[in-house]
Amino acid sequence: MVENEMNKIEIKQFRSGEGCLSYIVYSPETKEAAAIDITRGIGEDVTAFLAEQKLSLIYIFETHTHADHFSFARELQEKTGAKIYMYEKAGSRAKDMALKGGEELPLGNTAIKILHTPGHAPDAITLFVDGSVFTGDTILIGGTGRTDLAGGNSLELYTSIRKILEICPDETTIYPGHDYKGRVSSVIEEEKKNNPRLPLSEDEFVRLMDAYRPPLPKLFDEAIKENTR
Ligand SMILES: [Fe+2]
Repeated sequence: MVENEMNKIEIKQFRSGEGCLSYIVYSPETKEAAAIDITRGIGEDVTAFLAEQKLSLIYIFETHTHADHFSFARELQEKTGAKIYMYEKAGSRAKDMALKGGEELPLGNTAIKILHTPGHAPDAITLFVDGSVFTGDTILIGGTGRTDLAGGNSLELYTSIRKILEICPDETTIYPGHDYKGRVSSVIEEEKKNNPRLPLSEDEFVRLMDAYRPPLPKLFDEAIKENTR
């Protein structure tokens, strides 16, 4: 468990599959909670955690339409009555609330701020709350999301990353949507120093990402089908 220095929120991270990271962000005071990118693999752990902590889930966020795992958002929506918040152009018919970017949604004594950050996916959003940023697959630890699948765009990803770096002070903690090396989080300052993609110029970044074609995720077709139904 990571306690935010301002003690307004706490963050519980769950890890599943080959490095998918899911989060419950909550106010210990008011017991309001938000779920971010909950995967089916740890869905039951998340519902058990919400019950143990006596949390009331009010937001279910998907940072984008995932192409590599099955989302547990729909099941959480049914179990808790919380609403699913996604970018307005996200394909899922389970979405209750369409985000445009720029929203500030109250959570306990603070707020979750939403930014539309396309590039890895056209419907990608980034969430900012009290000194932490949940980047989905926009900024990963030591890398970024790929741009060759499902409407990705390298120039848009470059622009989205620049926006996040402009908004976040150096000490901001980054919680990404994936990490394959067992790391929990990073810090903006560390990524500026060590993430090889962040210092690249726009041209260099676009050239590198346009040429980057890793193998398709194992579940690609099934995940897109399931996560957009
Ligand atoms: Fe992704």
